Amino acid sequence: MSVITTRQDGDVLVVTSNNPPVNALGQAVRAGLADAMAQAASDDSIKAVVITCEGRTFFAGADITEFGKPPVGPSLPDVIDTIEASKKPVIAAIHGTALGGGLEVALGCHYRIAIASAKLGLPEVKLGILPGAGGTQRLPRVVGVEAALPMIVKGDPIPAAAAERIGLVDKLVADDQLVESGVAFAKSVIGAASHPVSSARTDKIDSSLGDDFFDNFRKIEMRRLKGFEAPEACVQAVRAAIDLPFEEGVKKERELFGKLVSGTQSQALRHVFFAERAASKIDGIAADTPVLPINQVGILGAGTMGGGIAMNFLSAGIPVTILEREQDALDRGVSIIRKNYERSAARGKFTAEQVEQCMARLTPTLDMNDLADSDLVIEAIFENMDVKKDVFAKLDAIVKPGAILASNTSYLNVDEMAAVTKRADHVLGLHFFSPANVMRLLEIVRAAKTAPAVLKTAMALSKKIGKVAVVAGVCHGFIGNRMLSPRQQAANAMLMQGIKPWDIDDALTDFGMPMGPFQMSDLAGLDLGWNKEKSNSETIRDVLCERDRRGQKTGKGFYDYDENRRRTPSAEVEEIIAGFVAKSGETPQSYSAEEIRDRLLFPMVNEGAKILEEGMAQRASDIDTVWINGYGWPAYTGGPMFWADTIGLDVVVEGLKAYGHQVSPLLADKAAKGEKLNS
Ligand code: CAA
Repeated sequence: MSVITTRQDGDVLVVTSNNPPVNALGQAVRAGLADAMAQAASDDSIKAVVITCEGRTFFAGADITEFGKPPVGPSLPDVIDTIEASKKPVIAAIHGTALGGGLEVALGCHYRIAIASAKLGLPEVKLGILPGAGGTQRLPRVVGVEAALPMIVKGDPIPAAAAERIGLVDKLVADDQLVESGVAFAKSVIGAASHPVSSARTDKIDSSLGDDFFDNFRKIEMRRLKGFEAPEACVQAVRAAIDLPFEEGVKKERELFGKLVSGTQSQALRHVFFAERAASKIDGIAADTPVLPINQVGILGAGTMGGGIAMNFLSAGIPVTILEREQDALDRGVSIIRKNYERSAARGKFTAEQVEQCMARLTPTLDMNDLADSDLVIEAIFENMDVKKDVFAKLDAIVKPGAILASNTSYLNVDEMAAVTKRADHVLGLHFFSPANVMRLLEIVRAAKTAPAVLKTAMALSKKIGKVAVVAGVCHGFIGNRMLSPRQQAANAMLMQGIKPWDIDDALTDFGMPMGPFQMSDLAGLDLGWNKEKSNSETIRDVLCERDRRGQKTGKGFYDYDENRRRTPSAEVEEIIAGFVAKSGETPQSYSAEEIRDRLLFPMVNEGAKILEEGMAQRASDIDTVWINGYGWPAYTGGPMFWADTIGLDVVVEGLKAYGHQVSPLLADKAAKGEKLNS
């Protein structure tokens, strides 16, 4: 059956797309829409057109899988121009998500109606491109530059009610009567003297907005978008909507789009989009594997981690019982959860009522027996195997049969924990990243005996609580922390070759990481695991801690910090390090910023390849997903494995050899064959 079908309802032609799962505007859809518009134009009995979609959503955008392939007509801009040029009014009837090219189709229509749950947006910027089918020129003309600019530059969709307020949607209609309402709307405008044509509108364009307005927007709204190329191109395109007539503006848009779509950043960000979706697919699990119901969660430990984990479930409407050993610690934990919610409410993320609803779902307790009815219990206690084993044995005896027991360990062997229970098939790791209520990543650790249903349940649950989950095997540090370790070793080795900590950190922040290894140490506290009594000035860390340079909390560590926690290099630290270098007998080295970066990142790629080799990650793109969502690896490089593919695996292998590393056989093999890690 054709993906586009038409039927006549009186004098209205109803054009319906059925292209699951998201009605992406692939070639067949575009051709079908063009044919439908031709039918409407040539048939005198048709006086208006309604465009709508079946399934879960209105067109969710261009078909991303077509990017980078030779284009096959009709092009989306042409189809939209045809719709807009129709003498007969065209109405978009929107449900689900009208995104990207989908919203551009709607903007080409003369009118837009939507149900309340619909969302509308131009998220192209997140794929490293800009709306390339007239969106940057039509949206400002329909809603004004001030409303259009953030939608295009930041890419976040807005709810239908907000869209109605800014004039993007003409009417909100009842959920179960979208098409009927579309037809009724169409009938009501047949015979009107004229219909609004988005590209011809000038009423919303404020031509007084100049450099100041755009510079101010860049300063305030684009700070977090440092390193990304597309946002600036979006600003320039929107600016063209003020400065140029529509036809010229569209040319500018195409020119900017062309540059972005063929660039590395957009390839990387498309990779990230598909990588996140691929991550949710678990190898070796039958399609009919059931998802277990999780209606009640228990959490052990009300510290920073336990509290953060609890908030995920509370916010998703799932009741949580949280356990601590002492009343004080329990009270403190609960009050921090409340404070976090109140802070979010102050920023407009929750209403006061929602805060109370979340808190009402929380039951604090000192008695482990209160976890008995939980469907899932997550321990977030001290990182020590004996303590964890003890807790797992106790939980196994108390918590009802069939419930899942999970460890939030960041390094330890989940198989060992499972072995002390009688339900090893219901044990797995759920490694959240701090702050657990904010960070998007969840590593699901598949232990040797974890049942498929348990894994599938964890994956489904991760979606429910808004996480991006990746399945990892049991190995020290799983995917993320395991790869952090060779980077830290490389950083320490360079320190001992006389490279300054700030040059090492800067190499990573210039690359786009939020911070380097020494900034990270200062943030975490250098005295983590340091013992004052036993300290004997043996390591750089010993000396720093002995001099009370214990990190940001004491105002100094590898760096000196001002009252705003801004770092400056420290002469004292430089001297301490120089002393160690002299003592070691190493010849001080000097590396370019690029070499410092490669010395830090190539060993990570190598470790990633070993992780793949050992089957600890299902696919290279899962590793990219971990690093982007858990450690702030710059998404516009696609993640460590994609980045390595981009610069060439042969370059990475040569570098590793030159820096004295043992190269992973898988990496060496792929490099020799000219293959990529992400194939
Ligand atoms: N093209 C191709 N495939 C797409 C797609 C698109 N635009 N959007 C989603 N899909 C695929 C996904 O890859 C996924 O495939 P698998 O099941 O094989 O993994 C499937 O559709 C379902 O997607 P999700 O798992 O993401 O489903 P969801 O319900 O969680 O979310 C969504 C639905 C909100 C529409 C989300 O998929 C999304 O945000 N899609 C991208 C929207 C977008 O960026 N549109 C702009 C495209 S670029 C453009 O339009 C350029 C232009 O100007 C012409």
